[in-house]
Amino acid sequence: MEQRELPTVFITRAVPEEAMATAAGKVRFIIGPDERPATREELLDGFRQADAVVSMLNDPIDRALLEAAGPRVRVVANYAVGFNNIDFQAAAELGIWAANTPEATTDSTADLAMALMLAAGRRLDESQAELRAGRFGGWAPKAHLGLLLRGAQLGIIGMGRIGQAVAQRARAFGMRIAYFTRTPLTAEKEAELGAVRMDLRTLLATSDVVTLHCPLTPQTRHLLDASALAQMKKGALLVNTSRGPVVDEAALAQALLSGHLGGAALDVYENEPKVHPDLLKAPNALLVPHLGTSTLRTRAIMGEKAFANVLAVLDGREPPYPVNRPPHPRGPLGTES
Ligand code: GLV
Ligand code: GLV
Repeated sequence: MEQRELPTVFITRAVPEEAMATAAGKVRFIIGPDERPATREELLDGFRQADAVVSMLNDPIDRALLEAAGPRVRVVANYAVGFNNIDFQAAAELGIWAANTPEATTDSTADLAMALMLAAGRRLDESQAELRAGRFGGWAPKAHLGLLLRGAQLGIIGMGRIGQAVAQRARAFGMRIAYFTRTPLTAEKEAELGAVRMDLRTLLATSDVVTLHCPLTPQTRHLLDASALAQMKKGALLVNTSRGPVVDEAALAQALLSGHLGGAALDVYENEPKVHPDLLKAPNALLVPHLGTSTLRTRAIMGEKAFANVLAVLDGREPPYPVNRPPHPRGPLGTES
């Protein structure tokens, strides 16, 4: 019998080796650049040679790219839970599955949201800067007064896996939990998390900390615009570990510089890797560079999930974590026209 060649998987950017372990020996890899995202040309070149693609959250996988890539790719498996970078409808029309890595990213993102909340709430960044600048004059009764989490209200926007994981953690700190989502939790879940569903306006007006855990969609783009930010309680804190464009960054910078908001702690930006210059000027902004999933363990599990999606489709099955549903998926390997 003729020996079948291994299927080819294009990984658009080098990932930790641990993330590729489950596919080792089962596929031939084409691996993109190490230190920067793949260019448009590199993406196109890889897509044309591959049966499956593992894409990064900052690769724009749009209709034009998918159409220009030819008939070979069966699945685009994003190495991320967020998939706003993929035109998943165009992919479905072309018979290409799109998939993500939910579950893998939940704990590390929820941990980071808590870290940001604690760091910004307790003013760790600005107070450390003072100390390093030689301005620590000893303990002082009125200095660096921050936010006590116990008894404070946390408003969670988007109550999927990550939002719920944040609620669990915040409850352990004694926070009161409010949430806003399209689909309410079951009464049982609400009771377990001690979470109260509110409309957006009420949540914004009553929360001491607001944290974002919704996906970026046309409905959530600029969900927190100038008018929504103005509805937030004076002195409140905003935490964003979801996607930058959920917040109008210019309006946020304004709300921070005017002193309406007490602080913001951001992991994501509207035009990554650019950061709005006015945010950089706001001393009450804590700004970190998209670290939500950056633990090696998380990145390894994300790889397991991404390759579970890839291997299932290459095997003629549905991916375990689809984000679209092609009505006519491309056929088995070797049948491309
Ligand atoms: C990270 O931002 C992710 O979507 O996994
Ligand atoms: C969204 O997919 C989440 O995991 O919260």
